[in-house]
Amino acid sequence: MNKELWVEIKEGKTSFFLKKDSETIYDASVFYNPKMSINRDLALLHLYTIGNITKKGLIIIDPFAGSGIRSFRIINELPKEYVKKIIISDISDRAIKNVKLNIEKLFNDKRIVVHREDAFNIIAKQILDKENIDVIDLDPFGTPISFIDIAVRALVKKSGYLFLTATDHQVLCGKEKSTCLREYNSNSTNNYLCHEIALRILIYNILTSSGRIGAYAEPILALQFEHFFRIHVRIEKGKKRANEQHKEIGFVYVCAYCSFFETERLKEKKNLQKCPTCNKELEKVGPLWLGPLGNKKKVGDLLNFLDEIEFEHNNKKKINLMLSTFKEEIELPPMFYNLPFLYKKYKKNGVSPNEMINRLEKRGYKTTRTIFDFQSIRTEAPYYVVHNEIKKL
Ligand SMILES: C[S@@+](CC[C@H](N)C(=O)[O-])C[C@H]1O[C@@H](n2cnc3c(N)ncnc32)[C@H](O)[C@@H]1O
Ligand SMILES: [Zn+2]
Repeated sequence: MNKELWVEIKEGKTSFFLKKDSETIYDASVFYNPKMSINRDLALLHLYTIGNITKKGLIIIDPFAGSGIRSFRIINELPKEYVKKIIISDISDRAIKNVKLNIEKLFNDKRIVVHREDAFNIIAKQILDKENIDVIDLDPFGTPISFIDIAVRALVKKSGYLFLTATDHQVLCGKEKSTCLREYNSNSTNNYLCHEIALRILIYNILTSSGRIGAYAEPILALQFEHFFRIHVRIEKGKKRANEQHKEIGFVYVCAYCSFFETERLKEKKNLQKCPTCNKELEKVGPLWLGPLGNKKKVGDLLNFLDEIEFEHNNKKKINLMLSTFKEEIELPPMFYNLPFLYKKYKKNGVSPNEMINRLEKRGYKTTRTIFDFQSIRTEAPYYVVHNEIKKL
């Protein structure tokens, strides 16, 4: 390999080549972002877990492959028997040339199939060919929204898994509300709850896509890391369960002034206008998913297999902390309280989140930390109990 033309990069246990056609890799014509290694680590961890538990070889589509690193790591780092076939595709000619060069030099493996295609077409082609897909990992630029319908269709036959990334933070976090309404049919917000709300808007969209074809989407994990959102769901046929799931779609009323919030299922008619604590106008956010963001048992499985993956930098520590916190909070109600905000509001010095958790638990309310903010708490306690506990300090 000519070192002038190619740079060798290592991620996890995998080295690969990237065409050197710019000053930095961030400007290269083939996309590779080392900061997203944690996203790929999570994909590998989940694939390892599924492969280990089901003891079968998975058929996977990586339709936005970029440099190909996600698939190279899957091929190189997972036990061979866990992956039966991986379909690597990208719309960019340069990306696919890069992928092919790496396959020729480093990853020559009969399990890999490469295409240059639009993501929609490559997924549709599998449906046409009656290929039973186990996992689709949607990792586009910005929003995955226009690929969810086709992905769900390809996965429903075999109860497969949809992994997706969204990086359209501005849209989902209330900076571009009209785009959110147009693309996601939902009102977002830019207050402190915006990341949880963004994930719930994304899940709402996955389950409406599934619902239309008589399937439900079981959230396994929904996380936010810096600028990206990551969701893993299992798609399964079942009209009855899909109907049940749709009862958990609704809205959240939020007050930007005192952090009051209240959920409302579609069937309910709360029609709140003013905040009951400070009488300010409430913001109505949604529609969104109000059920659990993940599956406690399955997140526990992921934690059990943490030692099986070679993570990048501090990623193992970060994933461990995120998944452990997430596992604890999964079964508690939507939305959380930001303690520094409330301490300031009531002019209190405040106590640590752990101390506040103890106080609410002593009163019989299950309370945890939350992945969305390490100075916040999630609790079963009604808002007035939380506010009173703070006023007492
Ligand atoms: C965020 S990058 C993918 C990164 C890669 N998954 C990884 O883990 O490194 C998005 C990729 O999607 C490709 N792309 C953009 N629009 C596409 C489309 N409609 N169909 C397929 N690929 C597309 C781009 O060429 C780019 O390589
Ligand atoms: Zn208020």
